[in-house]
Amino acid sequence: MTQSQNNADPVVSVVGGSTSDFPLLKKATDLLDNLSISNELRVVSAHRTPDWLYEYAESAENRGIKVIIAGAGGAAHLPGMLAAKTIIPIIGVPVPLEHMKGMDSLLSIVQMPRGVPVATVAIAGAENAAILAAEIIATSDSKVKDKLRYWRQELTDSVLKNPEARGN
Ligand code: RP5
Repeated sequence: MTQSQNNADPVVSVVGGSTSDFPLLKKATDLLDNLSISNELRVVSAHRTPDWLYEYAESAENRGIKVIIAGAGGAAHLPGMLAAKTIIPIIGVPVPLEHMKGMDSLLSIVQMPRGVPVATVAIAGAENAAILAAEIIATSDSKVKDKLRYWRQELTDSVLKNPEARGN
């Protein structure tokens, strides 16, 4: 999966520093699709396309974007630089790469300075990024809130229906 994808009027924008991040970030867009939250998947690179990063961040609010999920690996400055350019909530996904297994990405994303936060999920936590984005959207959208409640109940049920859970 290397192409970008676009729903009409996305409210959650998912961006990666490279198309090589897309297989992981697709887990986020798939979950958003399941929750019927309009989304898009784009490439924005802090280091390789800095002018596009500024243009993307400056136009996101006017495009109706409510939450941005940004995944990057290595010297992962994309989520932090987006947070510097917009007050849209940014959820950072540390992408694990070959050499440092995502510890480099995690520390690059999580250690933001005072006043410019990035909500950082676990290394490779693209699905949790989508759920967190949905929870933010749900604060002003009762349909999304209902879908999230249903999704959480299904998660609970899937654990409890396992005989190993309660021993019967
Ligand atoms: C980062 O460098 C990207 O987010 C990606 O995780 C990593 C490798 O990018 P490619 O060399 O595959 O384009 O900026």
